[in-house]
Amino acid sequence: MSLIDQIAEIRSRFEADAENVTDETDLEQLRIEYLGRKGEIARHFGKIKDVPPAHKGAFGKAMNELKVHAQAIYDRLSAELKSRGDDSDYLDMTLPGTRRFLGGLHPLTQVWDEIIDIFRGMGFSVEDGPEVESVKYNFDMLNTPPHHPARDLTDTFYLDVPHGGYVLRTETSPVQIRVMERQRPPIRIIAPGRVYRKDKPDATHTPIFMQVEGLYVDKGVTFSDLKGTVLAFYRALFGADVSARFRPHFFPFTEPSAEVDVTCIFCKGSGCRVCKQSGWLEMGGSGMVDPNVLEGVDIDPEIYTGWAFGLGIERIAMLKYGIDDIRLFYENDMRFLEQF
Ligand code: DAH
Repeated sequence: MSLIDQIAEIRSRFEADAENVTDETDLEQLRIEYLGRKGEIARHFGKIKDVPPAHKGAFGKAMNELKVHAQAIYDRLSAELKSRGDDSDYLDMTLPGTRRFLGGLHPLTQVWDEIIDIFRGMGFSVEDGPEVESVKYNFDMLNTPPHHPARDLTDTFYLDVPHGGYVLRTETSPVQIRVMERQRPPIRIIAPGRVYRKDKPDATHTPIFMQVEGLYVDKGVTFSDLKGTVLAFYRALFGADVSARFRPHFFPFTEPSAEVDVTCIFCKGSGCRVCKQSGWLEMGGSGMVDPNVLEGVDIDPEIYTGWAFGLGIERIAMLKYGIDDIRLFYENDMRFLEQF
């Protein structure tokens, strides 16, 4: 075989070997064997000294073509192997897919978001306050008398700090005070957040739970504004067919005060197990902001009036999703959480 014919033979051998390359090791082997400094192509090039002068040009040209061709195949294989990565990543369209874990929002987060949406739509802004709160904001400025049972060591988590005077807030109401201290009316806010009470966990109590506080202060704000707003909220949440009723009650920071009931969403008012046959569900507290509270934050109660309300987020989530044990929200059992 002439030296020229051998070029074609090297070329077809190289192509066959390239065909069998399956990984980086094979490819490196191929490179060393053919393209390396002592590889087949370089060695064959060396034979140019034996080629008669008349054929040296044609031999050199054919050898160059072989080299360029082999290098191109090598480069292509190298790129393919790199983009493929590990063999195990081959995409086999006939295999069943891998089921990816999809997270979701906690049911309390979903209800929280929905409550915020509804009140934002009515022109309320969202405020926040600290969970470690001073006794001054949590009780004193909310007009809570010194002997009030809510202040009791058995009901409230007092913090062991050098000069005392701090608690884990027992309600979101202190956010009212913080907002009124730095803002002048008109004030229209809600304050969702976590609160703490020394309650023994059972189906309806947990030592940590969530409330939403609402506050509206301006000139000429009346109890009927409170009724209208609260009713609009519950209709947005539970449907247009619910009604609300206000039962006289007592809270230190409102006068008059009322508890809000909503038509039982399960029996539509005819009486069932959930509403204890009353046809009504207790939802939370409300009332006209006590003049003492307004005075405490330097808002003149002769000029301004306001109303406030407080409600429990867990309570709403339990009714909305038909959950009968509040502890489920805090146990982080995936079997529970995955249902939302
Ligand atoms: N802070 C009260 C509680 O935790 C709820 C509440 C009642 C808030 C009446 C208010 C209100 O703003 O006006 O039981």
